[in-house]
Amino acid sequence: MSQSMIEQPNVIYLKDYEVPAFLVEQTELRFELEEDQALVRSQVRYARNPESSNRQHPLLLDGHESLELQRLSIDGEVLSEKDYRRVGEQLSIPNLPDHFTLECITRIEPQNNTALEGLYKSDGMFCTQCEAEGFRRITFYQDRPDVMALFETIVVADKQRYPVLLSNGNMVDAGDEDDGRHWVKWQDPFPKPAYLFALVAGDLECIDDRFTTASGRHVSLKIFAETKDLDKLDYAMTSLKQSMKWDEEVYGREYDLDIFMIVAVDFFNMGAMENKGLNIFNTSCVLAHPETTVDAGFQRVEAVVAHEYFHNWSGNRVTCRDWFQLSLKEGFTVFRDSQFSADMNSPTVKRIEDVALLRTAQFAEDAGPMAHPVRPASFIEISNFYTLTIYEKGCEVVRMLHTLLGAETFRKGSDLYFDRHDGQAVTTDDFVQAMADVSGRDLSRFKLWYSQSGTPQVSVTGEYDAEHQRYTLHMRQSCPATADMATKQPFLIPVAVGLLDAQGDDIPLTGGQTTEVLECVAAEQSFVFDNITVEPTPSLLRDFSAPVKLRFPYSREQLVFLMQHDSDGFNRWDAAQQLAVGIMSELVVDYQQGRTLVLDSALIEAYRQILNDASLDKAMVAKVLTLPSEAYLSELAEVIDVDAIHQVHRFVKDAIATALAPLFLQVYQANTSAEEYSPDATSVARRSLKNLALSYLMTTEQPEYLALALQQFKQADNMTDSQAALTLIAHSGFEAEAAEVLASFYQRWQSESLVVNQWLAVQASDPKPDALARVEALQQHEAYDASNPNKIRSLVSVFCAQNMQNFHNSDGSGYRFLADQIIVLNKQNPQIASRLLTPLTRWKKYSAEQGALMKAELQRINNSGDLSRDVFEVLSKSLA
Ligand code: ARG
Ligand code: ZN
Repeated sequence: MSQSMIEQPNVIYLKDYEVPAFLVEQTELRFELEEDQALVRSQVRYARNPESSNRQHPLLLDGHESLELQRLSIDGEVLSEKDYRRVGEQLSIPNLPDHFTLECITRIEPQNNTALEGLYKSDGMFCTQCEAEGFRRITFYQDRPDVMALFETIVVADKQRYPVLLSNGNMVDAGDEDDGRHWVKWQDPFPKPAYLFALVAGDLECIDDRFTTASGRHVSLKIFAETKDLDKLDYAMTSLKQSMKWDEEVYGREYDLDIFMIVAVDFFNMGAMENKGLNIFNTSCVLAHPETTVDAGFQRVEAVVAHEYFHNWSGNRVTCRDWFQLSLKEGFTVFRDSQFSADMNSPTVKRIEDVALLRTAQFAEDAGPMAHPVRPASFIEISNFYTLTIYEKGCEVVRMLHTLLGAETFRKGSDLYFDRHDGQAVTTDDFVQAMADVSGRDLSRFKLWYSQSGTPQVSVTGEYDAEHQRYTLHMRQSCPATADMATKQPFLIPVAVGLLDAQGDDIPLTGGQTTEVLECVAAEQSFVFDNITVEPTPSLLRDFSAPVKLRFPYSREQLVFLMQHDSDGFNRWDAAQQLAVGIMSELVVDYQQGRTLVLDSALIEAYRQILNDASLDKAMVAKVLTLPSEAYLSELAEVIDVDAIHQVHRFVKDAIATALAPLFLQVYQANTSAEEYSPDATSVARRSLKNLALSYLMTTEQPEYLALALQQFKQADNMTDSQAALTLIAHSGFEAEAAEVLASFYQRWQSESLVVNQWLAVQASDPKPDALARVEALQQHEAYDASNPNKIRSLVSVFCAQNMQNFHNSDGSGYRFLADQIIVLNKQNPQIASRLLTPLTRWKKYSAEQGALMKAELQRINNSGDLSRDVFEVLSKSLA
């Protein structure tokens, strides 16, 4: 029996939640940082929790196998080994008084911490990642979010190597020691759970700014990076100031410390972390410069800076009681940052992008073995639950509350929530209760969105009664069984509806409004509209008012009509998607049955109309003319036929390009401007349309368009245009030119790590058949670093998750490659290993032969022994 089977990781259940036996009044930390170790002394003042039922309860401290315990004392008395017990990775100390101070000294080795959880080294600097359970890799502690304490932190390190020493809160003291070392003392005046603790020590520089809050408090803003990246911080600073202002205006939330710091680090498992007063960011989410960053990168920086800043209230001031409540802070904060991005840019485009992600990736999660509700009922490893369901679906659930209550009442609800729970660790029930209290509504059915997993399906039909001038919408809702839950009760689904007359204008509905929010709460329900004088075309689920799959039997003519007339921008886009999905799904069947493919001209004509419509926002045009992705078509398919989807996608794109080439060329030329680069919404829109036009033109593989792309590649003064051209040329059949641009791009950008990542990703996503060999060769390239998550993501994840036809090569080589990577990463960095596994876990959605190959690789990983909790959980659920 393998070890992993003997020590089966425990399942943790929400229903087993108990309050902590002890509360912490104060946590004092002292870090002695050295090259081969760090010594951590913690002095923690404990008090027995009056709310704990058992007055004899021992103190249970979380730890980790990597901790070397050097000393443990209570009120100055050293404990010997018989005074406590080790229970797994925990420490259990019995027979304690009601009040005492525990001192603990641990020795850790940050330089060998490849998991990047707890205290580790990134490119020579010390940094931390404590969410969710990294603090237990630093010292023995009640590492749970409902234990909140005041922190005081002293960091001691060599002054030359680590001139900058940071932690949470305000710097209160500093000094030099005789031996070339120095120290800084930080104090955080707000109680916080350990997951919000942070420390940074390094040779960093910063840009400085300041912000004056609505009530007149002066806040010093600092963004730190390595010297070479100092020129890439301005955009993050602007975004930060905009976020601070926006949160005051829209949510009435002010910043609460005298200083706010962001630090950019190159080795990071996720995007960024909202540690109190000291956010730590993956370089990919904070550095931005026109020469090195694409438009989407700028928008990501803006969104992530806002997200982490907004956590200061939705997450830090009010935090989670336990990790089952993760979406309490994440869903709400994603909702807040999505509102912010919508305000800063185009709301419709932002909505389209968010929904596209939800519908491809989150819906696929619901359909896979890791399906879970927004508030999960159990987990083995919480790191596996930083998912699209917790974040993106969690955001949709908050958005539905906003839709149901209206902006004003929602704001009252958020005010009440922040007020009522400031300084507390609470649950999603508490959040909904605040919304219920301000609205006077019973939201108990609504709460099923938190406890039931799966993507509800809503089938709608319309019935027009000319005699009574009455239009009725019949709705049926159901939710398919998910891996974790067989049956579900009906949800409260807000369906925003408009009715279009024959001219395409909105028919006034109740109270003269043009959009009405229907509340579908039963398995079957009908909604009647009176005084409807002509049979309308319904526009359903406007602005995607609920995270569901809604079906209405539209004809292609109706979809074209909606594309042209719907006053809801989101639904105009969605009509185009539905039109293309319908056509492409039929072509997939044609392809499978060996029929000649013929494209319905309706799609071409609809696209032609859009291209000719000068009144449309350019970003919208680019979105509407983007075909449904292969990933989305895969999610919609019963059984995924990767090859058929890929071939049909190519065919349709090529047919459109061939038919509309002169128009695309016109659009391309009309949007090529010599203006100086700016990441504002209008310029981004112009570039996105221009590069979309170029991508259609390049599909035709005509040399004249290659010439255009080459010219763009050579002349571009910004990374957006340069990378767009690079990708198109590199992925084309013009092999000599492909090799040439890839080489020159690397030559030009080899010293810019984030640009090199893009260069890796372009090659990893190349649809040409030799991609795997290329990826394997690139793993040996000087530019690759197998310990850096950003490099792994750019090469391995992009290949396995985005290069569908190569990853799913019928010889199984893609699967074997991924399994080999995971076996290595399982030991090195379990979080990344487990995330990387995702594509293989979906094996049931493929043909029997393909699925068997995928499953065999999962089993091979399973048999490789010594599985991390992270990988164990995903594997066991995938193989169940
Ligand atoms: N709370 C962070 C955020 O802003 C995510 C950090 C998660 N990190 C992790 N290793 N699980 O969304
Ligand atoms: Zn977050």
